Amino acid sequence: GTGATGGSEAGGYPDQNITIVVPFSAGGPTDTVTRMIAEPMAAKLGGKIVVQNVEGAGGTVGAGEVARAKPDGYTVLMHHIGMSTAPALYKNLGYKPLESFQTVGLVTEVPMTVVARKDFAPATLQDLVTHVKANADKVTLANAGIGAASHLCGLLFQTATGVKLQEVPYEGTGPALTDLVGGQVDFMCDQTTNTSGQISAGEVKAYAVTTPERVKSLPDVPTTTEAGLPKLQVSVWHGLYVPTGTPQDVVQKLSEALKVALADQKVIDQMAKLGTAPVPAEDATPQAHRTKLEEQLGTWAKVITDAGVKVS
Ligand code: MLT
Repeated sequence: GTGATGGSEAGGYPDQNITIVVPFSAGGPTDTVTRMIAEPMAAKLGGKIVVQNVEGAGGTVGAGEVARAKPDGYTVLMHHIGMSTAPALYKNLGYKPLESFQTVGLVTEVPMTVVARKDFAPATLQDLVTHVKANADKVTLANAGIGAASHLCGLLFQTATGVKLQEVPYEGTGPALTDLVGGQVDFMCDQTTNTSGQISAGEVKAYAVTTPERVKSLPDVPTTTEAGLPKLQVSVWHGLYVPTGTPQDVVQKLSEALKVALADQKVIDQMAKLGTAPVPAEDATPQAHRTKLEEQLGTWAKVITDAGVKVS
């Protein structure tokens, strides 16, 4: 096709559908963020974006598929903090974050919430801590698999409280939340982009948010610091990736389209309703994203190794 807007365009890119791979189930937080930006990105690029869910192993299956995809700009990965924790959790990961991928830009940094089934006995975070210490072998903690943000948050909770809980892995926290609402599992640490609706509807109990400040859209939920567990602090940064070797001018076009999407009022409003916000434009760039990834790889490798998590 012809470069609709002329200028120093990357040839005719895009001249076919672009796939953004979400490495978790449809309906979860990663999927939600991706579908928010896909449409305004596609409009800016003058092409069509298809969102494809490739689940499994805490996001590492989907990430691996994109690492091995053709570096032509037609396969993009949406991933989050899990890109920086997986190398410390998996012996044979099948990709190296800094070598297998080209960063495109950061997207958003999402607070997490500690949520429980609504008839779970503990009323507050402190009650939860007391309860798990006395009943560690009976309490079930849901996550989206080893390497997921929900897994990391659950790990931080267990490290901070000195307990080892029975973890129940799902292919995403979309399905995990369904089971939590259904009372099939006791509690979970998951992003506001997934839990906000159920918290506001009173379908799950919210003990705390894992950010230094309260989340404006969840004003009644205390921070972990207020609730007496200051060590439980984590927010889930997201970024877009393409396979290493993707032409730089294509990377730039994707980054420009991402910036346009993050400046879209509909995206800003949707994110605000779900407790988060777009990153500043200067962070929606390949370099800012790479700097973040390098720093986070170092941070979590230490935390995970210190926690003595089995590398599977
Ligand atoms: C996670 O890492 O917990 C994922 O964000 C879950 C999901 O997106 O389904």
